Amino acid sequence: MSNQILKNKRGIIFGALNEDSIAWKVAEKAVEEGASIILTNTPIALRAGEINKLSEKTNAKIIPADATSVEDLERLFEEAQKHLKGKIDFVLHSIGMSPNVRKKRAYYDLDYNFMNKTIDISALSFHKMLQVAYQQDAIAPNGSILALTYIAAQRTYDSYSDMANAKALLESICRSFGMIYGEKNGVRINTISQSPTKTTAGKGIDGFDLFYDFAEKMSPLGNASAEECADYCIMMFSDYTRKVTMQNLFHDGGYSSTGMTQKLLNQYQENIK
Ligand SMILES: NC(=O)c1ccc[n+]([C@@H]2O[C@H](COP(=O)([O-])OP(=O)(O)OC[C@H]3O[C@@H](n4cnc5c(N)ncnc54)[C@H](O)[C@@H]3O)[C@@H](O)[C@H]2O)c1
Repeated sequence: MSNQILKNKRGIIFGALNEDSIAWKVAEKAVEEGASIILTNTPIALRAGEINKLSEKTNAKIIPADATSVEDLERLFEEAQKHLKGKIDFVLHSIGMSPNVRKKRAYYDLDYNFMNKTIDISALSFHKMLQVAYQQDAIAPNGSILALTYIAAQRTYDSYSDMANAKALLESICRSFGMIYGEKNGVRINTISQSPTKTTAGKGIDGFDLFYDFAEKMSPLGNASAEECADYCIMMFSDYTRKVTMQNLFHDGGYSSTGMTQKLLNQYQENIK
């Protein structure tokens, strides 16, 4: 089903690693909806090669960039505008990584070099790409920029560790830059706070499967899938959301507004018998 709501729009999609990645689904749907896109990821992620399939399917050029490197980002935005023959209408930041989470360091035993990396990769990279785009005047008027986030920015989840701090900063950058970019030329900046999703990054969190099941039962609509997240991103890139900016938008089946569900109470009752 395509309504061509991104017809003639140009986009840059960060973070497609494999078919499970949320960014992968966004890339597929953006092209189905009429957009031309550039795909980008770190040289190491590109070496795995899976993204070549997506590149063929979406007829998209791949431009390597480490999103923590301002130099890489400058080159990326320059080449993307040249290749797509115009300013960029939408950007997806779908990037996250914490060496502390990977190495299972508890929050009371963080390695600070790791933590700096977590914050640089998962949050500052968003500021860096916004600043590069702003300084190159690379985003078309009324463009739309999104980053993906998680509710651990507002509430504490044990195993999310320093990623929670990175996500809080990411959401704050969205608001601060959203004001500046909105006043400049109507560019919207938002974050989408997504349900737990079975991707490489998601499954890297300790106890993910149990947590996924808990969130499923805690959400009146159930967990939102990667495909559903992609649909929401497409709507946010479209002209139908021109006055939405500086928001953290929950895309979580109602999880963030739920105190307790009957499903979970039933399960709890079973367990305490
Ligand atoms: N999976 C979930 O449960 C979930 C829930 C809410 C939010 N999110 C967020 O969604 C986003 C996408 O993650 P995903 O779940 O699709 O997992 P994923 O592992 O498929 O994607 C993460 C991407 O980040 C990229 N990346 C890491 N370091 C980078 C760097 N220095 N420069 C550029 N790219 C870099 C990886 O190569 C990978 O493509 C992340 O921001 C994640 O925190 C995920």
